[in-house]
Amino acid sequence: MAATAAATAPSHQPTPLLTPYKMGKFNLSHRVVLAPLTRERSYKNVPQPHAVLYYSQRTSNGGLLIAEATGVSDTAQGYPETPGIWTKEQVEAWKPIVDAVHAKGGIFFCQIWHVGRVSNTGYQPNGQAPISSTDKGISPTPRVDGLGHTEHTPPRRLRTDEIPGIINDFRLAARNAIEAGFDGVEVHGAHGYLLDQFLKDKVNDRTDQYGGSLENRCRLPLEVVEAVVDEVGADRVGIRLSPFADFSESGDSNPLQLGLYMVNALNKFNIVYCHAVEPRVGSVGGPDENLTPMRKAFNGTFIAAGGYDREDGNRAIAENRADLIAYGRLFLANPDLPKRFALNAPLNKYNRLTFYHLNSDPLVGYSDYPFLDEESNSVES
Ligand SMILES: Cc1cc2nc3c(=O)[nH]c(=O)nc-3n(C[C@H](O)[C@H](O)[C@H](O)COP(=O)(O)O)c2cc1C
Repeated sequence: MAATAAATAPSHQPTPLLTPYKMGKFNLSHRVVLAPLTRERSYKNVPQPHAVLYYSQRTSNGGLLIAEATGVSDTAQGYPETPGIWTKEQVEAWKPIVDAVHAKGGIFFCQIWHVGRVSNTGYQPNGQAPISSTDKGISPTPRVDGLGHTEHTPPRRLRTDEIPGIINDFRLAARNAIEAGFDGVEVHGAHGYLLDQFLKDKVNDRTDQYGGSLENRCRLPLEVVEAVVDEVGADRVGIRLSPFADFSESGDSNPLQLGLYMVNALNKFNIVYCHAVEPRVGSVGGPDENLTPMRKAFNGTFIAAGGYDREDGNRAIAENRADLIAYGRLFLANPDLPKRFALNAPLNKYNRLTFYHLNSDPLVGYSDYPFLDEESNSVES
């Protein structure tokens, strides 16, 4: 009888992405996470009131949101109009945004960030050189609108005696994030920015205790995590890592070894999550398997991101390759993404030209993507 019932039962399996999950002390109602998305609409590095609507649109009761990369100090910027969290004014400006997310039952982490050498003198105090693990510069990068390139100034290699100051900047930023009301912070250790510039052997050419061996290259990111954990508690700390990526000329000759070393070392801090970015290119371990060794080695919640759609995400959860999936471009263009996934509804297309502000109306391509129950209005990608 039981076998017959199972065979004839309608297939009402729960959608894996829409199942609840307990992340440390946070009870998530589903596994569809808003990935951190820089939007360049925070004038003079201060979050703006228009972010209240943008983030609250993307909030669901019990959903996890990660705020856009947010600078930890006045040397941390390398892009126009990105938010910071090192001044009182910035902390106050974040408060209504965080409150709006909480009012709808969201859990909100702030990604804390230093760009390192992905910058130029125009973003630096007193026109000084950007700082990094190295004094090697990077090539200009094409702008997203195709209008020319972003120039980077060759960086100044941080002296060993300056490293404690960097760690302290992350510590204070974490304290400020909690003061602003965030539920936690995500240390940005990915994508070729400062901490990744220490991690990766194609960038880090130091000869002190922060360069050379794998252990030495991982030292600064781990000291940052330790300081942040010490400041706000491990249950409020996550980290983002992209060992397989080589954004801004930040590749590593052995990304799997690097990723595994980091997650094993992170285990001793009991941080709440590790958020890893898929390479989605190359063939280490075959498609979708690249992050699996890190996932297996890490004791906390594992978030995967990078190129996932609904089906990929469901499969990754069902196969236990991740606990949560972070969505970037799809969530940017679909404020009600978890609901659309629940209903398997069609998605709005994202418009690459309005990812960043680029001198147009800041609300365009920001808080004007339609909800499912609004008039259908597909935006061209
Ligand atoms: C407009 C835009 C801004 C982004 N800003 C950030 C950021 O601030 N911090 C970060 O770690 N990743 C950032 N990313 C990467 C995304 O978080 C995500 O990893 C990437 O888009 C791949 O996921 P997807 O395929 O779901 O879009 C950004 C991506 C886009 C498209």
